[in-house]
Amino acid sequence: MQMYLYIHDAILREVAELETKARELNREDAEEIAALAERMTWFHTMVKQHEHAEEEILFPAMNARHEFVAETYQFDHDDFEAHVFDGIDEAFAGLGRAEGNGERKAAGRLLYRQNVALHEHMRLHISKENELLVPKLLEEFDVSEQAEIAGGMAGLFDPPLMAQTVGWMYRGQNAEDRAGMVAFLEAILPEEAFTGISNMLAGID
Ligand SMILES: [Fe+2]
Ligand SMILES: [Fe+2]
Repeated sequence: MQMYLYIHDAILREVAELETKARELNREDAEEIAALAERMTWFHTMVKQHEHAEEEILFPAMNARHEFVAETYQFDHDDFEAHVFDGIDEAFAGLGRAEGNGERKAAGRLLYRQNVALHEHMRLHISKENELLVPKLLEEFDVSEQAEIAGGMAGLFDPPLMAQTVGWMYRGQNAEDRAGMVAFLEAILPEEAFTGISNMLAGID
């Protein structure tokens, strides 16, 4: 399940950085706003795919052994949409149409506020998954079942999103985690796909 922990680490690194970016954003700089909006839109897409993989594979497997596990985690996923990501979209829309300093300031504040919420919601949700769910999972499933779950979750990412996600994770990882992730990918991917991803990773510092 190491890959599952790697993606959680990457999400937590990203939300911490996004909070800083939102705090330091120059509200007058349309290019900087567009770059942050693009980064956050991609992050949202990737997080939804990660949640989808949990909801399709991991949670049902756990629910088969312990009922009412899936519901409590899926509740958080749904809550993020309404209470965190919708507010981020609203803030970027506000920055786009703001006329004058007052409106720009209000939209910038909303963006920062929502990024603080994103960071804190993710910290709590992922801590629950790492500290409550993962130990149970290791207890309930043997190594081959765990590999099947991890491979099944990764298999739900379409190849372009998988490549982007792996590149994004790799950029923030230390050498040990990089090696661990590459070993996982080698085990689950067909040779040609693995070669493609390895070549892409070789271009990252
Ligand atoms: Fe989750
Ligand atoms: Fe998760």
